[in-house]
Amino acid sequence: MDFLDMMNRRHSCRAYDPAQGVSREELLKIVEAGRLSPSGCNSQPWKFIVVDSPEAKEKLCDAIVVGDGVTGAPWRHQVPAFIILIEKKAKVMPMVVEYYKDTQRFAPGDIGAACMNMCHEAFCLGLDTCMIGMNDQAKMEKYFGIPADCIARVVLAVGHAANPDAPVNKVRKPLEEVCSFNYWE
Ligand SMILES: Cc1cc2nc3c(=O)[nH]c(=O)nc-3n(C[C@H](O)[C@H](O)[C@H](O)COP(=O)(O)O)c2cc1C
Repeated sequence: MDFLDMMNRRHSCRAYDPAQGVSREELLKIVEAGRLSPSGCNSQPWKFIVVDSPEAKEKLCDAIVVGDGVTGAPWRHQVPAFIILIEKKAKVMPMVVEYYKDTQRFAPGDIGAACMNMCHEAFCLGLDTCMIGMNDQAKMEKYFGIPADCIARVVLAVGHAANPDAPVNKVRKPLEEVCSFNYWE
């Protein structure tokens, strides 16, 4: 399949078929796509926690509710597996730290690249995904042993769409608004 064709067909899935599970083999292939992703200074500032047991999923479903019951995933209980993408302290080149005074300058982008590659690998396996951006960091640390100096940046829901044949509607800004040549327009 052409890459742009895949981009047009991949979408954020918010309705999963709870009867269809995801195997560990599939989950590890998705993680492999994250592991192979590029990162600033090749620091690989990530750790991936696969969440597929009923007990761990229950905890995860609680951790992605923040504050007074706010969640980006009201459909979370249908999801057969999740992957938590955790940003670790990055070991970057001295010149980067010197200039930006920040070891984490590239890390959120690195996590984003890994996450996107994982979504595309899942798509190639016939699976559906949705990134979930909000989570309660304190609960993540308590439930999953994530060290306090690491940030649970995004949770990836993985499963089979409840309606796999539903049309995909890509809502995107027009090309001319987001792109110009040689200068800002
Ligand atoms: C960092 C990030 C966080 C997101 N968090 C959520 C979320 O909590 N819940 C949700 O339903 N979608 C979430 N999304 C999915 C976006 O809403 C989605 O990518 C966007 O609307 C474009 O749609 P598409 O992915 O179907 O092309 C998130 C996406 C990103 C990149």
